[in-house]
Amino acid sequence: MKRGVVGSKIVSNSNLSGIKGKQVFAFLTLSLFLFSSFASVTAAPVEKEPGASTYAFFDEWPVNASAQYSHDGTGVNIGHPGWGAAGSQISRVSTRYPTTDGESLTFWDRTDVPNPREISNALCHENQTHPDSRGLSDYVWLWGQFVTHEMDHTTTQDGRTPDQDQPDTAYIEIDEDDPWMGFSGGLQMRFFRSMVINGTGSGDSSNQREHPNTISAWLDGSVIYGNEQSRADWLREYSGGRMKVSDFSEGDLLPQADYENDPTTPGMSFAGFNFSNSFVAGDGRANEHVALLSMHVLFVREHNRLAEAIADRNPNWNDEQIYQYARHINIGIMQSITYNEYLPSLGIELETYTGYNPNIDPTISNEFATVAFRMGHSQIGSFMLRMNETRRPIAEGHLTLREGFFDVTPIVDEGGIGPILRGLAYNVEPENDLYFVDDLRNQMFGPPGAGGMDLCAIDIQRGRDHGVTDYNSVREAFGLTRYVNWSEITNDIEIQEMLNSTYPDIDSVDALIGMLAEDHVENSSLGPTMHLILKDQFTRLRDGDRLHFESQFSEMDNIRNEIERTTLADVILRNTEIERIQCDVFYAEEVLDEMDCSLPNKKVTDGDSNNNQGNGNTEGTVPLTYIFPLVLIIMILALVVAMMLASSWMKDESEEGDERAVAESDLQDNLTDDEEASQPLLFGRNGREMPHKVNEERKFGR
Ligand code: HEM
Repeated sequence: MKRGVVGSKIVSNSNLSGIKGKQVFAFLTLSLFLFSSFASVTAAPVEKEPGASTYAFFDEWPVNASAQYSHDGTGVNIGHPGWGAAGSQISRVSTRYPTTDGESLTFWDRTDVPNPREISNALCHENQTHPDSRGLSDYVWLWGQFVTHEMDHTTTQDGRTPDQDQPDTAYIEIDEDDPWMGFSGGLQMRFFRSMVINGTGSGDSSNQREHPNTISAWLDGSVIYGNEQSRADWLREYSGGRMKVSDFSEGDLLPQADYENDPTTPGMSFAGFNFSNSFVAGDGRANEHVALLSMHVLFVREHNRLAEAIADRNPNWNDEQIYQYARHINIGIMQSITYNEYLPSLGIELETYTGYNPNIDPTISNEFATVAFRMGHSQIGSFMLRMNETRRPIAEGHLTLREGFFDVTPIVDEGGIGPILRGLAYNVEPENDLYFVDDLRNQMFGPPGAGGMDLCAIDIQRGRDHGVTDYNSVREAFGLTRYVNWSEITNDIEIQEMLNSTYPDIDSVDALIGMLAEDHVENSSLGPTMHLILKDQFTRLRDGDRLHFESQFSEMDNIRNEIERTTLADVILRNTEIERIQCDVFYAEEVLDEMDCSLPNKKVTDGDSNNNQGNGNTEGTVPLTYIFPLVLIIMILALVVAMMLASSWMKDESEEGDERAVAESDLQDNLTDDEEASQPLLFGRNGREMPHKVNEERKFGR
């Protein structure tokens, strides 16, 4: 909701029917009282106490122009400027599964290997969510997704091949007996094959298809700032080093798309789902769901917070200097969170950093992007919790995963990003295993039969599309032994049997399925093959990056230390109205008293003229010096009139003998704090009561 609309929403929501004369007046007076109290709150939104140790830093200018990441990833390695650049070819560690003509999916067209939907039904279906046994929170999957959108994007041919009559497809057959998606006569799930590197896959078995990574591979903040100069330019405000934002009562959000009036607006994926509301970000996938969008908002706010702190301390710096410096620090923070919080939470410990190595090629591998890192798809739960500061559900309730797909209203109209960010830290994510929740496996981006897709089946098909070889051969390519028995993959006898009855033999298993089925490495949430592939990719991205923060700031202990000790919890606390959260948000916490990181919101005092939601934007606000006394007088007057009228109204009511003593809504208002606290959470974590309505959802759309 845009600033200034708050009051009208309250009044228009009220039900006035059945209330007469004096009551209407009393009601309006009370409304005025409530509104004026509320207005005094919204007119004095939150800013963080600037004295807090982690709040503001940096007043040096150590970064020179040649030491900046380009937007498209070129030039990070001076000797190999194309390494990691947008558009470069995705690499292979294992040999591509050969096809006779270089194009088809021949191996996987074997009749004894089931189609991806059959495999998904047999192996990826779950009746009940299994929470992560190490207590990981929803931030683990979300950070994984945010970071993958930083590193790789294999675009498909859907709408991107103007020179071709028809994009290449490999639609997935859905049987008419399919228990969730079955329709009379059967269905096909749309599947567009990936874009290919020009000149590859030209119909000759010696020239197999290869695929481009359309974004920069480096952890270079492209998810925030864009992968090409034009997008990066569009996202900038060109004033004070700031990024563009749109001004909402819940705090700054991303800039909004306006394709009609501004043809330079960068494209966003699936914008058609909610075209008019779509936000614009560095990565085109930002609107995919509300949690992802919240993370984008957080890091744009952090950029602007840094920019303001830098500008304050360095009044002579120009927009470009401030922007580049804030960008550099923000990227460092993202890198640090990835290496110091996210990967350790998964149980991945990299070798100690020994400095930049120009011989290391960071290129994203197929085994990583097309297979192993998709493991995050199994860590996603059916619900996104939305909590207030006392960690109770907000009035609008939690969201199912699918309610958050490509819909910005939960953020725009229902309290901003704060409730979502609290919920992510509160909830234990599902275990990394074979199972995908129903919203991803049957209803991704629509109900079955009406656009609904199966992400497990699509992931399998994408592996086949890219010619990724079988599980055992991928293991071998990474120096691991080939397995002979199902029991070597997992101790779980049920899963062994499921694998055995789905695949003809152990050498036919799709790489993703084999990896998801693996028992986890000790103190890790990953099986050994996945663990190795992630470790390899993230090590190469760190050690082969000349501009990685530990290399870039190696001589500047104060800056490097500040970046290193900044956690995701700090970024959340600095940039939202959230005052308290656990210091390591990658582990779930439900007890408020255990949430030991805090950053108080600034107390409103007379003379504070620049408070607004902790993002430091002062434009368009009226100084409280003028508002406060006025609001106080209105409140006192309104209260006196309301009390007089209310007493007369109550007298009338009792004289009329009306037994409508307590309105239903009053019952809720009259709950004591204790009673309110004893109301059950919508989906309590204790006892894992997150309902998974598979049976009802099965009927959906049939
Ligand atoms: C609600 C959350 C998510 C949704 C709806 C989602 C959806 C998708 C979709 C539709 C694709 C493209 C599939 C294809 O056509 O091949 C994809 C790709 C991918 N996803 Fe997710 N995803 C989510 C979360 C995650 C998470 C948590 C991770 C990792 C931790 C992840 C990692 C990946 C990777 C590595 C790719 C391939 C990227 C590329 O190179 O193109 N995703 N996801």
